Amino acid sequence: MKNITVVGVGYVGLVTGVCFADLGNRVIGLDINAERIERLRKGEPPIYEPGLEEMIARNVTAGRLAFTTDYGEALAKAEFVFIAVGTPSGVDGEADLKYVRAAAESIGGAMVAPLIVVNKSTVPVGTGDWVADIIRANQPKPIPFSVVSCPEFLREGSAISDFMNPARTVLGSLDADAAAQVAQLHLPLRAPILTTDLRTAEMIKYASNAFLATKVSFINEIANICEALGADVKEVAAGMGYDPRIGSQFLEAGLGYGGSCFPKDVKALAFMAAEQGRHPQLLQAVMDINEDRRRLLLEKLRGLLGNLQGKAIGLLGLTFKPNTDDLREAPSLDLARHLCKEGARVRAYDPVGMPGAAAAAPEIEMVRDAYALAQGSDALVVCTAWNEFIQLDLARIRKLMRQPVVIDARNIYDPAAMAKLGFRYRGFGRGYGPDSSPTMEAEA
Ligand SMILES: NC(=O)c1ccc[n+]([C@@H]2O[C@H](COP(=O)([O-])OP(=O)(O)OC[C@H]3O[C@@H](n4cnc5c(N)ncnc54)[C@H](O)[C@@H]3O)[C@@H](O)[C@H]2O)c1
Repeated sequence: MKNITVVGVGYVGLVTGVCFADLGNRVIGLDINAERIERLRKGEPPIYEPGLEEMIARNVTAGRLAFTTDYGEALAKAEFVFIAVGTPSGVDGEADLKYVRAAAESIGGAMVAPLIVVNKSTVPVGTGDWVADIIRANQPKPIPFSVVSCPEFLREGSAISDFMNPARTVLGSLDADAAAQVAQLHLPLRAPILTTDLRTAEMIKYASNAFLATKVSFINEIANICEALGADVKEVAAGMGYDPRIGSQFLEAGLGYGGSCFPKDVKALAFMAAEQGRHPQLLQAVMDINEDRRRLLLEKLRGLLGNLQGKAIGLLGLTFKPNTDDLREAPSLDLARHLCKEGARVRAYDPVGMPGAAAAAPEIEMVRDAYALAQGSDALVVCTAWNEFIQLDLARIRKLMRQPVVIDARNIYDPAAMAKLGFRYRGFGRGYGPDSSPTMEAEA
């Protein structure tokens, strides 16, 4: 059993802390957000993540998990400190490290015994050395410590299972002994452990996210071509995905990637490249293609409804993907802003994202369920592939709508079945069926 402190109890830090507690360690979760800590002390997770609430309760009851806002208390017995604070985009796309800097300053100022500082936040290459400098500069007296990079690869929505069953653990450090101790902590996860230098570990995280974002933009480019040529991108992706060299994940055409990681990480990597005089042309194309998805969606809507002024548009789903309440860079919010600008009335339903969205986008009218959303709508737009949307009674939805228009930006419905139900339906990249190009229809 080790004493672990996690700095920043958001989507990554909270899951990391709770999972390490569940593995038998004594964990303190620290955050500067006093409201978050207050809620956690009452057993309420401040984020939605399936299975997390039960796990917090179990580990708090067992005396392995506690929460605080006080660095002194959090570091008094700590052997390992995980930094898991946010690294949002700065003005030019670079990663903004102000939270990492503040955490490092506080750790330096409050540490009382030797520590291993483990960086879980996604940070630009070279940040590990910078963090060490900040900690050293803030120590009242020299106390030995090491910095290890341990990038996180979990996905919101399946974060606990991803943490407990990682494909690999990446550790970067110049201090082999510190890396070995962090490796020990991860041994119960039984994943391959790759130990590198600090900079390489930091780069592995960016390169991984950039690759996955590239897959998304790749299949979206293919979707555009499918749409023009009359092929179905869902079948194309399935056919490609069986090939183990390609794999089926992240080949879902639609509205593109969003969320708290891909947009900012691709931007930050492109920034790092440009800063070094490199021309990140593939990354630029990945971002351009992703931006285009939102414009394409509006074009599809205008194509079916004409002028959007006064039209009632219902957004099915708000969060950037299912099984999370995370709305960061959610395409739905961007879309809502554009629709409002064009004079549309925007309403929405999301199983968990509505409280956050109501605060971020007060122009959206929230309704209680998908059927209330359909009532009187001129169009429904599927923005998030929540399971409950796949199971809807679509015949009932059709009857409730003012115009039977569905733009399925996540390709969750079958175009032929939707046409049979009387919908005017558009997916993304589904060339055959009702979404076929005018040429295909003329030939048919
Ligand atoms: N969200 C994901 O799915 C995911 C996956 C892999 C990696 N990451 C990376 O992990 C990092 C954290 O992401 P997140 O989504 O968990 O962020 P988050 O915004 O959900 O959580 C960050 C937390 O850090 C706290 N914080 C900020 N400054 C602090 C300080 N000085 N001391 C203590 N607490 C402080 C905030 O109050 C917040 O609760 C980012 O670098 C992100 O890129 C995120």
